[in-house]
Amino acid sequence: MPIFFDESKKTFNLFSKDMQYTMYVDQNGRLLHAYWGRKIRALDIDHIANLYKMAYGSNLSLELLPQEYPAYGGTDFRSPAYQVQFEDGSTVSDLKYAGYKIYDGKPKLDGLPATYVENGDEAQTIEIHLRDDIGRLSVTLNYTVFEKFQAIARSVRFKNESSKQIKILRALSANVDFEDDDFVMIQLSGAWARERNIVKRHLASGIQSIESRRGASSHQQNSFIALARSNTNEWEGEVYGFSLVYSGNFLAQVEVGQYESARTSIGINPFDFSWLLEPSETFQTPEAVITYSYEGFNGMSQTYHKLYGTRLARGKYRDTERPVIVNNWEATYFNFNEEKLLTIAKEAKALGIEFFVLDDGWFGKRDADNSSLGDWFVDKRKLPEGLDGLAIKINEIGMKFGLWIEPEMVSPDSDLYRLHPEWCIHVNGRERNLSRNQLVLDFSRQDVCDYMIKTISELLRSANVSYVKWDMNRNMTEIGSDALPPERQRETAHRYMLGLYMVMDVVTSSFPNVLFESCAGGGGRFDPGMLYYMPQTWTSDDTDAIERLKIQYGTSYVYPQVMMGSHVSDVPNHQVGRVTSVEIRSHVAMSANMGFELDLTKISEDEKVKVKSYISEYKKMRKLIQFGNFYRLLSPFDGNEAAWMTIDEKKDEFLLYHFKILGMPNAKNKRLRLKGISTDKNYKLEGTYEIYGGDELTFEGITIPYKHGDFQSVLMHFRSI
Ligand code: DGJ
Repeated sequence: MPIFFDESKKTFNLFSKDMQYTMYVDQNGRLLHAYWGRKIRALDIDHIANLYKMAYGSNLSLELLPQEYPAYGGTDFRSPAYQVQFEDGSTVSDLKYAGYKIYDGKPKLDGLPATYVENGDEAQTIEIHLRDDIGRLSVTLNYTVFEKFQAIARSVRFKNESSKQIKILRALSANVDFEDDDFVMIQLSGAWARERNIVKRHLASGIQSIESRRGASSHQQNSFIALARSNTNEWEGEVYGFSLVYSGNFLAQVEVGQYESARTSIGINPFDFSWLLEPSETFQTPEAVITYSYEGFNGMSQTYHKLYGTRLARGKYRDTERPVIVNNWEATYFNFNEEKLLTIAKEAKALGIEFFVLDDGWFGKRDADNSSLGDWFVDKRKLPEGLDGLAIKINEIGMKFGLWIEPEMVSPDSDLYRLHPEWCIHVNGRERNLSRNQLVLDFSRQDVCDYMIKTISELLRSANVSYVKWDMNRNMTEIGSDALPPERQRETAHRYMLGLYMVMDVVTSSFPNVLFESCAGGGGRFDPGMLYYMPQTWTSDDTDAIERLKIQYGTSYVYPQVMMGSHVSDVPNHQVGRVTSVEIRSHVAMSANMGFELDLTKISEDEKVKVKSYISEYKKMRKLIQFGNFYRLLSPFDGNEAAWMTIDEKKDEFLLYHFKILGMPNAKNKRLRLKGISTDKNYKLEGTYEIYGGDELTFEGITIPYKHGDFQSVLMHFRSI
């Protein structure tokens, strides 16, 4: 069994695969953190408790103690994991151990996305009950340990057991007090079109944190951090991952205290957040998935990839190969008509593309980004036979039809806004700042959510839609809701997320055969929360192959390749102006969910021949690409190259990708040592007669021939013989 409680020593041991997480209740009834790392045969809790004896001198110093869910107001001056305000105005509280419950399986989180199990024996859950007796506040810490993953899913539930209101001011999902601070903190940061670049820094005294205050997990910071030992690399060394299954404002922080401990926590951003709990009401935090690897960053990524790919993503497409799509956005922007779309679709079909996706500009009177969001009826000027007419013609060509929508937004120049100006996020009497000429609909309101469910459902029923791209193109400003009383205004951003999750849940479950891809101006909401409802995300609005090396490499720290949309686009590239070959553009796209986003009628005959053959190669290998194990070999953040591999579960087949960014004078061939394959098997390089030993490829390596020029790539396909 993965979870044990030792009554005599009041110790909880959580085990999974080769990981152990230990907590105990001290002499004062506090739940303390003891250990997190590799399995230990018989961990003696007294040995650990010895470390902290000094804390219990004449004056108890909580600052010396590693606490599981620290409170505010006592002798610990570090950041608390939670804070509440009682009706007398006081904000001090203290939690003492009050019992536990262990059971098989994993419960659903009410209204929130979370990892799940399909059978009770895949995981065990423990609820540890803590209580502030004076304030009559009960706090339950939930931990689910997965048998097969080095991961724990954590969340917290607050319950007001008093007869008065309690206001929650801070409610993080997980806290780990590491005993020492000898770590490097890793985060995935960036900006629009530059998402999830890997940033590393050594921990230093004080707080180091990342956060979002934008009403979305954001382009700027992903809801993830990791702490790695300084000797950790892609293959060796310890790393602890913290990933939040949430798409809104979050905080991930590490506080190095005066005794060199590293308090690490993640959850809803307490900034501009509060939540009023009426008597007997509960508040459930989002889930944090924490992972442990002693096999470096690749080890951590393997855990997240498998867990998120198989026990976070849901629905028919979780295990179904994803189609090759063509999207008309960079081909036409807003300027298209039915005839133009059909010519692109016909060309796409001839090249082997399977889905045609109609992007922005098909509704209201949307000839630019300054109108019509909210008016989800077809623009007959562009599509005289409606969506249905277009979908039928696309189907007749032999392709499936996909549609772009942006349901969370409204343009001031729209019928919807003219009818319901109160339906957007705003603060009465204050300016409503526009971004991309639009406002955010207030999904914290039930009436708005109901309206959108009805509108989207009717829309998707009005034509044969097989794919939906769900976009979201601005962050929130002036956060407030007309529908909430003054004392609940700071609930708006979180209520928005709950409303959005509810809408997405209803819509995606009403259309189980539709493939949903989420998008937020590219990768502004590439997070596990969205991936629970929609199994893939448009990785970035940057479609340049070279920029994508970094974006996809960084994204792969947490998210598997099957969750990333990756398109071949035109040159010069629309975001950076770079000219790259169709080969490298295809190889980058062939690393994930391949798609196209250019006017295929305009490319040369020679390029068409190449594209056709890449698509046909991709289709043959896509099960391996989308569902194989992904390993990073060379980081584009470290130099002029990038390389990665995808290997099938049985290690019978694998792909090796190598990318060289800039050409070099007087260069030599490159030897690259492979990882993750079987050293006992022999592998044949497809398309040649060459045979290599797995041991040879692993220990000696393979030669990557030097290719002249900038932006060169190689894709090799091996099968065991
Ligand atoms: C942002 C998306 O990321 C793009 O792919 C495109 O759909 C535009 N929005 C359309 O407005």
